Amino acid sequence: MSYTLQDFCAEIHKILVVENNEDGREKVRQRLEKLLTNETFVEQFCGSDKPVGVHKLNEDPTTGAVVLSHVVGAGTMSPPHDHGESWAIYGQAKEYTVMREWDCADHNYGDGNVTLKQTREYRLDPGQVGLFNPGVIHSIEYPDAARFVRVTGVDLDRIDRKAYNLKHKTVRTIRAESADQA
Ligand SMILES: [Fe+2]
Repeated sequence: MSYTLQDFCAEIHKILVVENNEDGREKVRQRLEKLLTNETFVEQFCGSDKPVGVHKLNEDPTTGAVVLSHVVGAGTMSPPHDHGESWAIYGQAKEYTVMREWDCADHNYGDGNVTLKQTREYRLDPGQVGLFNPGVIHSIEYPDAARFVRVTGVDLDRIDRKAYNLKHKTVRTIRAESADQA
């Protein structure tokens, strides 16, 4: 029997209810590797005929964890950003993603003075899964037609995040979308 999206969601629910911590995140990362070995799942949610966009596959009402498929049209490199207090786990389905982590040396920055230093870089090929821990500044770079599955600790639209501009050395806060703004 192959490991399905439903199996994955049920299992990460059980994990995160008791271990919403580093050990639990590593277990979720490993389960996503297992899910990506299911070719039927990959074709169903990340196949070449899928419409470009971000598709929500599941949201756990108890733990808050969200599972998304990212179906990319044109490749790009995201600006460095964080996810506030949420972690994020990225599992590659098609093509690849270059994952980078950054450190912001000076937290008493003013605009025009925000300098980031890259601390880590690795590449995810299909079937591989990476993890960004809470608060980690990161960026991703991927080619045309890349597809990946992302699991976040909470719905990122509901929390404040920071986005950095390397060229202008600035940072801005992306505010949570409140329900009444939707
Ligand atoms: Fe991110």
